[in-house]
Amino acid sequence: MDYQRLLQDVMAVALAGERRGRPADYIPALAEADPSAFGMAIATVDGGVFGAGDWEVPFSVQSVSKLFTLALALAEGGDGLWQGVGREPSGNPFNSLVQLETEQGIPRNPFINAGALVVTDRLLELTGDAAGAVREFLRAESGNAAVDTDDSVAASEARHGHRNAALAHFIASYGNLRNPVDSVLAHYYAHCAIAASCRDLALAGLFLARHGVRADGSRLLTRSEAKRINAVMLTCGTYDAAGEFAFRVGLPGKSGVGGGVLAVLPGRGSVCVWSPGLDAVGNSVLGVAALDALTTATGWSVF
Ligand code: DON
Repeated sequence: MDYQRLLQDVMAVALAGERRGRPADYIPALAEADPSAFGMAIATVDGGVFGAGDWEVPFSVQSVSKLFTLALALAEGGDGLWQGVGREPSGNPFNSLVQLETEQGIPRNPFINAGALVVTDRLLELTGDAAGAVREFLRAESGNAAVDTDDSVAASEARHGHRNAALAHFIASYGNLRNPVDSVLAHYYAHCAIAASCRDLALAGLFLARHGVRADGSRLLTRSEAKRINAVMLTCGTYDAAGEFAFRVGLPGKSGVGGGVLAVLPGRGSVCVWSPGLDAVGNSVLGVAALDALTTATGWSVF
């Protein structure tokens, strides 16, 4: 298959649509992103990497990092993680506080901010350096040693992080954090603020297409654990638009407010698309449109 041509074609379909979206501005550093940036990459389980547009330009991975913290926390600590975080869609915005009180400090799922804070806390407990573990994983899987936290983005998140600080303190009040709130927040911001390209993220997501096996052939997760991460991505990875994403794209996917979306084609490959303009829910408008066009053109789906 001519993957590069396929990517160019589906990006053109997305660009022909009328909607564009706006870059996130609740984290001021993200508002500086170029709204016209657009890139897409596919990495295949048999070793191919293909891209189009700005596929090699690093961007802020934001919540796409949550899929790697989840994978690493499960790999290091196993199923006990699920005692502190659920796996139900929240039907609420990614930074919502409302369910935490009625559900006694156990966040609905690992991909809303509340759940990601718990996962980051456990990864910090297990490794001593949660953000460092995510960076190392991304570097190893992508083969790109330059993948790193953008400290100016992390600092911008921290300065404007009242919501996340509120979530973390609230969770801590229920005894569901094992490290000091400030350390958990610092590691959370540092992994969200990692800069990586579509190429890097498509390669880093391949372990899910390989049912848990890393680039070097070692096993990170059991087949069952990898299936479960894909299932939680499908049901919760794009927040209160997860139903719409499953309807349009039909693949497990994880979005971030930097405009990236990483989707998994189990057994086949991994695809990452980036465009900073977001919809009201916080998902990339062109990113979702391009994935919709990709699966419509190819018939790729988990269904
Ligand atoms: O904590 C935040 O708000 C950001 N660091 C990440 C949020 C995010 O990417 C949600 N995704 N669409």
